[in-house]
Amino acid sequence: MDVRRIREDFPILRKGDIVYMDSACQSLKPDCVMAAMDLYHNEFPACGGRSVHRLANRVSIAVDEARERLASLIGAGSPENVIFTKNCTEALNTIANGLDLGEGDKVVTTDIEHNSNHVPWLRLKEKGVERGFAPTVDGILDLDAFQEMLDRSVKVVSMVHTSNVTGTTIPAKEVVRMAHDNGSLVVLDGAQHVGHTFTDVTDLDVDFYTVSVQKILGPTGVGLLYGKECLLKDLQPLSVGGGTVGLADYESVDLLPPPERFEAGLLNYSGIIGAGVAAEYLMEIGLDKVKDHETSLNRGLKKRLSSIPEIEILGPDDAGLRAGITSFNVKTMGSHDAAMILDDMAGVLVRSGMHCCHPWFQSRGIPGCVRASMHVYNDHEDISKLGDALDDMVSTFCR
Ligand code: ALA
Repeated sequence: MDVRRIREDFPILRKGDIVYMDSACQSLKPDCVMAAMDLYHNEFPACGGRSVHRLANRVSIAVDEARERLASLIGAGSPENVIFTKNCTEALNTIANGLDLGEGDKVVTTDIEHNSNHVPWLRLKEKGVERGFAPTVDGILDLDAFQEMLDRSVKVVSMVHTSNVTGTTIPAKEVVRMAHDNGSLVVLDGAQHVGHTFTDVTDLDVDFYTVSVQKILGPTGVGLLYGKECLLKDLQPLSVGGGTVGLADYESVDLLPPPERFEAGLLNYSGIIGAGVAAEYLMEIGLDKVKDHETSLNRGLKKRLSSIPEIEILGPDDAGLRAGITSFNVKTMGSHDAAMILDDMAGVLVRSGMHCCHPWFQSRGIPGCVRASMHVYNDHEDISKLGDALDDMVSTFCR
């Protein structure tokens, strides 16, 4: 993988004044994504799926093409199983509210979920839906404890595929098999997984899968909801209206089949088109190569950080288990202070705080952490710069 060449595709990196390590929050976007979005605005800024004039037809074709590319990225059997949402959070809300869950039903997640895969299920408490939290140890899912939790009341298992805090990945195939043996549906939150490694929802046999496009080199404002055809047909849409209707009269409505049933109102056409191009860009690089690259960076970072005694890494010691994410704390310094100092002193941009995983941090009495997260455009020079900046910061403020 030619990282030097890849870096040239990213306008912000061409300026050369920052080290960007906040890709788990939002990735940078290559020129080709912006160019595709500009093309839409400049040449066919119309509405898809409705009008039949030449511009509208071009939009419809471009949206279909994007759907096909994104379906390929996640191994969805058919593009029809891929729904465009406004983000990963909306996709998870659609599932939580669209399944017919009620009194006595239980939803099992891990204990390290992002709020987007926690709060939508938590709100179902009002309908009598119970929760279970499968424990993780150092970010690794305790499969025995998970197995123990599976009983007839567990209707849904909804888990983060790769953690945005520890970078650890659950053994998804095993989880799906165990849940299906119990008769439970499985939802995976793929926000930190897709775009960093090869993903195949068909092989996983997962029932629903969600994706955040802004983390896969695409624009903000687009997410994906994948579902098996047999389940999407019974899932209730979160919102309905224009674009979701076959025919309506004053008293009743026939909704279109998926995916249109779930895509109410005018869509974010430029964002969707950009998303398709981002998917193609990543597939051309090769997702296995992306994974190897990020692992190599994370191993390098682990080595560098181990020479700074004030740094404590969260999650497993083996960097190979933490994808492209390294979360850590600097003894005697708050995470937000550390993040601001890294930016001020060295132009290294990381995220700090609880990373929207409040229950996990609160239950452990950890006020937050600093998170360095990588993508295709990071290189070993970035690792050195972060290491040097931490050395400087620690010797200035902590010794
Ligand atoms: N989920 C995003 C993050 O972890 C926002 O930063």
